[in-house]
Amino acid sequence: MQFALRRSTNIRWQQLSIDKAARAQQKKQVPVCIWFTGLSGSGKSTIANLLEKRLYDSGKHTYLLDGDNVRHGLNRDLGFTEADRVENIRRIAEVAKLMVDAGLIVIASFISPFQAERQMARELFSKDEFIEIFIDTPLAECEKRDVKGLYAKARRGELKNFTGIDSAYERPEHPELTLDTCLLSAEECVEKIIQHFSALQLVNK
Ligand code: ADX
Repeated sequence: MQFALRRSTNIRWQQLSIDKAARAQQKKQVPVCIWFTGLSGSGKSTIANLLEKRLYDSGKHTYLLDGDNVRHGLNRDLGFTEADRVENIRRIAEVAKLMVDAGLIVIASFISPFQAERQMARELFSKDEFIEIFIDTPLAECEKRDVKGLYAKARRGELKNFTGIDSAYERPEHPELTLDTCLLSAEECVEKIIQHFSALQLVNK
């Protein structure tokens, strides 16, 4: 079986009549990828969920991609080694790009611990299409909350490669927005995000 790995040599891009602009116009919105990054337990999913509700209620067409959920399906073959996390983010970023092309406002909520993969995700989009939001909750606070009991497990040595404990988290250098959940409630974080969008005229177009 030699042909299975001979990838894209005989494939070219197919031009389609209905493009991103047409799909977006039908939905009366500006498609974007809102990318949340932060430690496990930082509050990403809570904020992402509230944000999606808020956008949905204002008539927007959205989709929320969430780490724990995607790992039950598309990425169920991936674990938490460095290589698997890289592949996890690569697939998610490609899916998010397809969904933005479909005209949707995509919210991605993944630890996405490495700068290089976040940059790779960013580069799939045009300049204003990718909004990186750093949920900046200190490790000590995430560990104190420990909603899923995973930090305790990691400290006991029962869970390897846990982000913040024995696997790195590289802080974003230039996120569009940084939110400190020790200072702001989830609702206030969503408010800040909506304010940021309004400045970009993304929400009420
Ligand atoms: S990422 O690092 O590849 O971006 P992702 O966001 O998909 O991670 O998944 C993180 C979620 O998986 C965590 O919120 C947690 O519930 C769970 N999890 C299980 N094992 C680990 C681990 N070793 N490190 C981090 N999260 C883990």
